[in-house]
Formats: sequence, C-alpha cells, structure tokens
Amino acid sequence: MCGIVGYVGTRPASKILVEGLARLEYRGYDSAGLAVAHRKALKTTKAVGRVDDLRAAVGDEPSPGKVGIAHTRWATHGEPSERNAHPHIDAAGRIAVVHNGIVENAEDLRAKLVADGVTFASDTDTEVLPHLIAKAAADDESRSLEDAVHEALRGVEGTYGLVVLDAKRPDELVVARNGSPIVLGLGDGEMFVASDVAALVRHTRQVVFLADGELATVTAAGYEGSRLGPPTTVDVDDDDYDLDGHVDFLSKEIHEQPAALRRVLAGRLDTRFATARLDGLRLDPRELRGIRRVTFLGCGSALYAGQMGAALVEELARVPADAEQASEFRYRNPMVDPDTLYVAVSQSGETIDTLAAVEELQRKGGRVVGCVNVIGSAIARQCGAGMFLHAGPEVSVASTKAFSSMTTSFALLALLLGRVRDLSAAHGTRLVDGLRRLPDAVEHTLAGEPEVAAVARKYAHAKSMFYLGRVRGSAVAREGAQKLKEISYVHAEAYPASELKHGPLALVDAAMPCVVVVPDDEVVAKNVSTIEQVKARGGPVIAVTNADLPDGLADAVLRVPRLEPELDPILLGIPLQLLAYHCAAELGRDIDKPRNLAKSVTVE
Ligand code: F6R
Repeated sequence: MCGIVGYVGTRPASKILVEGLARLEYRGYDSAGLAVAHRKALKTTKAVGRVDDLRAAVGDEPSPGKVGIAHTRWATHGEPSERNAHPHIDAAGRIAVVHNGIVENAEDLRAKLVADGVTFASDTDTEVLPHLIAKAAADDESRSLEDAVHEALRGVEGTYGLVVLDAKRPDELVVARNGSPIVLGLGDGEMFVASDVAALVRHTRQVVFLADGELATVTAAGYEGSRLGPPTTVDVDDDDYDLDGHVDFLSKEIHEQPAALRRVLAGRLDTRFATARLDGLRLDPRELRGIRRVTFLGCGSALYAGQMGAALVEELARVPADAEQASEFRYRNPMVDPDTLYVAVSQSGETIDTLAAVEELQRKGGRVVGCVNVIGSAIARQCGAGMFLHAGPEVSVASTKAFSSMTTSFALLALLLGRVRDLSAAHGTRLVDGLRRLPDAVEHTLAGEPEVAAVARKYAHAKSMFYLGRVRGSAVAREGAQKLKEISYVHAEAYPASELKHGPLALVDAAMPCVVVVPDDEVVAKNVSTIEQVKARGGPVIAVTNADLPDGLADAVLRVPRLEPELDPILLGIPLQLLAYHCAAELGRDIDKPRNLAKSVTVE
C-alpha cells in the first residue's frame, strides 16, 4: 500500500527521499509528496501521479534541508489529488506527517478539531494527525516530539505506520507503528526510515523493524525507543531492485522463477529418507503426525496457492486440508481446532487481513506457521515459525515468482506430512526427484514464451475469457484468471470445468475464449469432453497441457513438459502467467503497476 520514506543526516534530504520513494512506488502510485525542514520552516512539494512527477516538481534546486519525510500514496480516503497527497501539515505549518494505514475515528476527531477552530486542507483521514500532534506540542512546549506524538495517538483508533517531522526540531524524526510496517535503516552519521527495506538497501542493510505499539525518536546519530530490538542485517541487495536488462519487473520476475525455485528447494530435499526438511516449522515427527487438518489462509494469489497446497496435502498425506480467504476469517468467528496446522500464506508478510487472521488464531489457541517471502515482515514475526520462500524481492504488483515458490513449498510440506504417515518411500523418492527437476522444467516452459505471445496477440482483445480446470487444474485456472484480470483488465472468470454445464456454458460463443487447463491425469478424457462442448458452441479454446490431445481439438495449445502428476499444477501455471503478461503488453497496459492496485495491502 502507501510507501513511506524518511531521512535525517548530513546530506540534503530531497534527493534521498525521492530515490527511496521510487523504490516503493509499487506500493502505491496515485500521488507523491515530500516535506523537508530547513531553517525551522517546512518546504513541501506534492504531485499527482508517479514519483517521476514529484521529482520534476522538486526540480534542480531542492531545499538544502537535511531532514525530511516523503510518501507515495494509494488512495483510501479522498481522491488522488495534490491536496490529498501526503505529507499533511498542521495549520501553523509546523508538524508534517506521512501515514500509512487508516484512522478509523477520523470523522469524530475531525469534528472535534473543527469545533476547536482548526481548518482542514484535505479530505484525508491522515490530516487529523498533524493537527492533533501540533495541539499536543503547543499545549506543553517542554514535551519532546515523541511525547507529543504519543499523547496525540492516545485518541486515535485504527492502523498506522507514521513518520513525523517538526519544523522546530529539524534534527529528529518520530516514528510510530500500529499495524503498518516501519523499518529504520542505520547509516554512518545518518538514519533512514521506510515502510519497506526496498527504500533503504541502497544505503544500508542494518535495519530495525518496529513492532506494533512502538514509537521511536530518530536522529542522525541513531535511534531511541524503549522497546526496540537490536539491528538485524537484511539479506537483500540494491541490485535486486534493478530491471537487469528486462523491460519490466514482471517479465524479470517470471524469468527468475527457475532460480527462485532452486532457492526454495535448496537444503530442503532429503534423498536418503525420501522426504522434505522444513526445520523452520519447528515441528518434530510426533507433532507432525498429530496434525489432523491443514488450513491455508491467504488473500488473492496467496489464497490460490493455498488451494493448490491443500490439494497436495490431501493427495500426498491423506490429511484433510482446505484453504480459506484470510480476509473473511476473523469476521466469521471461526472454530479454531488445536489439532489443525494453520498456514498463513503471504508474499509481503504485511497483508493486514492475513495478519489479523493469524492474530485471531493465536488468540484462540491455534497453531499457525507462516509461508512468507519477506524476512522480518509482520506475519513472519507474528508466526515465529514457518517456511521462508527466499524468492527475492517481488516488485511487480502481480505475484509470479512468489506464487510458484509458495506452491513448491507446499509440495515440500505435503511430502513431509505424507512421509510421517503412509506415503511410501518409493512415492517419496519419485517426488523428491520430480521436485529436483522442477526448476529445469520451468526453464523449459519459459522457453515457449514466443508461442504464448503469439496466442496472446490473437486473443487479448476479447472482452471476457473463461478459465476452466478440474481437480489438479482448478486452482491453476483461478490463478490464471486472476493474473489476466489484474494486469490486462480483461474480464476473466475461473470455473471448475465440471460446472460448465450447470450455467456458465450459456455465455460461451465465438467471442468468449476459454482457457482450459488439462493435466495429463485421470480426468484428461473429461477435460477433452469439456473442450468439445466449448467448441460445439463456437468458443475458441486455448489448452494448457502436458497431455497428448487429439490434433485440432484446441485452437491453440500451450505445452508444458511432463514432470510428476502431483507437481504438474506448478508447471501448468507458468504459461498462464506468460499469457496474461503478453495480453497486457498487447493492450499497452502499465504492466508493473496495474490501475487501482498496490503490492501489499496493509489497510482493510
Ligand atoms: C496477485 C496479487 C495479490 C496478492 C494478495 C496477497 O497477483 O499480487 O492478489 O497475492 O494481495 O498478498 P500477499 O501475498 O503479500 O499477502
């Protein structure tokens, strides 16, 4: 969601702030702004649109101030406009705030402030914060800025990650966190603040993550906060955020998948015992055998990955498994079962719905582990145990390499659970071998990109598409449809192929391309008959398959290699990523930053 950057040190802040924002633009890109303090006055610059627009607005002669805060916004309250862009400033022009999250009682607070004579300059919930902090500071000038922020936040309900700058104290920033990430970067005689390490790693890899409820004062010399933990070193390079010769991050990340999957598997395949090693789960064989159900929780693509995980667990371990929308979980008063292993699935590790589901589970005594990409993220820390993906930073808004890394991790989990139950050593060996071959098979599939691009050019202008699959193919179809919607804005709907005749077939005609996922498994004949039904209604068919389909059955065939039937869904998803990518390219979409979306959804 919104991106935050702060700097206090010895260099002019503006350039550092704009560079940091550019690294965070994938978190929100409606508008951007910054405030720099110099000679006890604030200089604020804002622009609607992208960080480049802000860079242009800052111009060649930025303020020489050496302390500042900046923000790139994904609008929640108030339209994207300059007046609604952060930082927000109090009426006296003293206190500037950048904020990520939602002030839930903003209406009440605003009414009270207006009654006290405060004039508001924006429609945002955030603007109450600088007014409240300015009031707390003015009420008692002997208060530190941190105390004034603390006092102001007493009456605030909702979520926040915020950075506060006081024109009268241009040698410090105050940060606070409740539900939205804030990380401090430790420099040499300078300090950085951000909502995501992406904005910091150009300068430092020594970081401190704030926990919920923490406040800290940050100066050029360091930081002070009563409950802050020691610094940790993040294992991310600034180069990881470069395009590295690709035209966009989505293409880069799609093509990074073989390497990402090699990292997911590294050290986790046990050939001797034909099983997987997932020490991060912190579960011994007796505890693993005691698990009576596995429930995956995630949102969007992480949910679809969980659905693929649930199918793998049921198939390999014969343990009942399901996947649930984390966004619904806490509101339906779920029954929490102590013998269930809950797996919170999240690339960013910051998705508020998934985090809240974890907290609800833990409150009720549930055992929850994480499957997370970002080390140090809120969900990873809240779970305390789990499987890191090690997929590397995923910058493009649409998830690809994190998705395939999740499903590969779930294959490992299913194998592990199976081997402490009745999965045979021979079956385990076949899967270990299949997983070993998976990265090469993905590489081979990606080599088919030109054929996928040709198919995309033919069908990208459709108004709507169906994605059909059954059993092992159904979650693949759902994720494929999600990718197409997100980045090409072509409407796509996924259906179990078996449901087609129960309603959706009415929509099939020559203008409705149907993407049919056809693994070479026990139901291949059923999928062939689905394709025939679509063809009989004039619907164009794009088959994604590793089966030998009759010649001429489908209008286009996207092939993947044969691996092992249980692992086929992971491979079958790859051409669907490429299909969505090339449809979006054909339609001239902004592939890395699709409209209305943000990379990590840290507000409800
Ligand atoms: C899809 C996508 C979203 C995310 C979802 C969960 O391409 O990016 O659907 O998968 O918002 O995000 P994480 O995995 O960060 O919890």
